[in-house]
Amino acid sequence: MSKFLNLENENYKTGQYPLFFGEDLGLFDSFNVTYPEILKADEDQRALFWKSNEIDLTRDYQDMKDADDNIREFVIENLSFQMAGDTCANAAIQTLLLPIISNSQASSLVSYWGDSEAVHADAYSRIIAQCFDDPNVMFERIRKNEQMLKRLTFLQKVFKKQGQLVGRVLTGELKEFGSEERKQVIRFLVTLLCLEGIMFLASFTATFAVTNTTQMFNGCAKTVGLIHNDEAGSHVKNSLIFLNIIKNKEKYPEWDSMRTEIKEIMDAAVNSEIDWGQHLFNKVGSIVGYNQELLRKYVLHIAKPLYDKLEIPFDFEVVHNYPFPWMDKYIDPDLMQTAQQEAQSGNYLVNATLDDVGNMEFDF
Ligand SMILES: [Fe+2]
Ligand SMILES: [Fe+2]
Repeated sequence: MSKFLNLENENYKTGQYPLFFGEDLGLFDSFNVTYPEILKADEDQRALFWKSNEIDLTRDYQDMKDADDNIREFVIENLSFQMAGDTCANAAIQTLLLPIISNSQASSLVSYWGDSEAVHADAYSRIIAQCFDDPNVMFERIRKNEQMLKRLTFLQKVFKKQGQLVGRVLTGELKEFGSEERKQVIRFLVTLLCLEGIMFLASFTATFAVTNTTQMFNGCAKTVGLIHNDEAGSHVKNSLIFLNIIKNKEKYPEWDSMRTEIKEIMDAAVNSEIDWGQHLFNKVGSIVGYNQELLRKYVLHIAKPLYDKLEIPFDFEVVHNYPFPWMDKYIDPDLMQTAQQEAQSGNYLVNATLDDVGNMEFDF
């Protein structure tokens, strides 16, 4: 994207706007919709709108003072990762995707996706501001928490490479896109999927477990519940829709040769969460109804469907049972299920102008 209004773009004549690496965007086209599933996902994510200041955290301040030391540590450790992770998501999603997008619906989807991450990062920051007498102490703590920050290193290299790619696009240095660029965007989307669909979701369970066991930190649990709904109900679906288009509709030729690499990225995310669980429970101990083994099972339970959708072999233990059924009172369980069903059915004909309905099937 070196032009910000490309009047030479005539893709409206065919209605075929590629997701990435096409011509610079022309006039925003809401009537020649190449991928109705993106339009539908965008409408769905916007329906989840909430504001970071709408949750009452007054009681959580007192809870932070009254909680047992291990519970307080538990809350702080998780909040630290959630805060750092969503700060990263907020900084990355729009910046690293919008410059290579060549489809109006995808640009709208990614814009709101990024806005949603800003709400999340702000919500965590507000928790810190409300629950600590000196919130700057938490910033100091997060910056020095090496074990926690290690959890984010698996994405840094991929995000950095993506930054280099979009930098060259924005300056006009890179005009012809080839195999390396297509591989990079696959890497980036898979990494983002793992961050949101495995790592964040695993972390949320710890927040819910604290409130479930102690009846404390209800404001935190309510906030994280709303964030969970966005991540599980929308953001994971967004990445899956993009990857489905790349794999099955635009059929990037690099996909098959990248299966091993995709598996390595996903395995690294799963192992990182299992290792983190070990660190967390060693450091602060278990709490009633929540321990290292249950967290490990949860990570495997949520990871398997993502592997299946991308047709990547899953070599870990298969965990069929949902290890934390009590969690449903903090989240909207239908959202997660609906997101998965929609990603499979692909029944999106809203405002569609495509004449080839057969092309619209999702075949994950
Ligand atoms: Fe987020
Ligand atoms: Fe997200």
